[in-house]
Amino acid sequence: MDVVVLVSGRGSNLKAICNAIDAGTCEANIVGVVSDRRKAAALAFAEERAVPTRVVPLRKGDDRDLWNESLTKEVAALNPDLIVLAGFMRVLGPPLLERFPGRIINVHPALLPSFAGHNGPQEALDGGVRISGCTVHVVDGGVDTGPIIAQAAVPVLADDTADALHARIQIQEHRLLPGVIHQIAIGAITLNPLSVNTPVADSTQSLTVPDA
Ligand code: GAR
Repeated sequence: MDVVVLVSGRGSNLKAICNAIDAGTCEANIVGVVSDRRKAAALAFAEERAVPTRVVPLRKGDDRDLWNESLTKEVAALNPDLIVLAGFMRVLGPPLLERFPGRIINVHPALLPSFAGHNGPQEALDGGVRISGCTVHVVDGGVDTGPIIAQAAVPVLADDTADALHARIQIQEHRLLPGVIHQIAIGAITLNPLSVNTPVADSTQSLTVPDA
């Protein structure tokens, strides 16, 4: 299964996918990494691995429709079977969604539908929840909306900061996301734009929440 990974930042999830591929636990092939930010560290990592990279920047005042068309053109030229948003901090417009219906997934650092958006870990702290986590879901036109494929739970600790919580959530993301990609690759999970068939639920880890 040929995968294009969309990134905006550090790229720890991209690394986790690559590690799983190298370890033989994720039967996918990354055919390209596309970013909206030229300086994304994830791009440098991809280049080190000789994975083709593309940058489609969106600057303040740029025409968003044109950007969506350019992004779609670059991604489609790589001919992916699956597109993975791994820390891609833009909402996708109709051109890419319509070109790859049900074939785009995203990882988010919260238990959706709670705490969508850019600050999942901070919002979980502000919301006072005792359990947060991460979600892998099919992408639609909303912000971190779309059918949920898998989730993993992470306890929120009494003295947590957003960074500390996010770091623990990322440990789970790095396990969950390559696992979902592998399950899609082998046909154990099937996707379509409106629903997800997940015969093997990877969602719930049992966990004990420590006293606050
Ligand atoms: C990840 O934690 C991902 O869940 C989050 O960005 C981080 C990227 O980290 N995505 C979102 O918040 C999407 N709303 P990475 O660049 O190290 O993979």
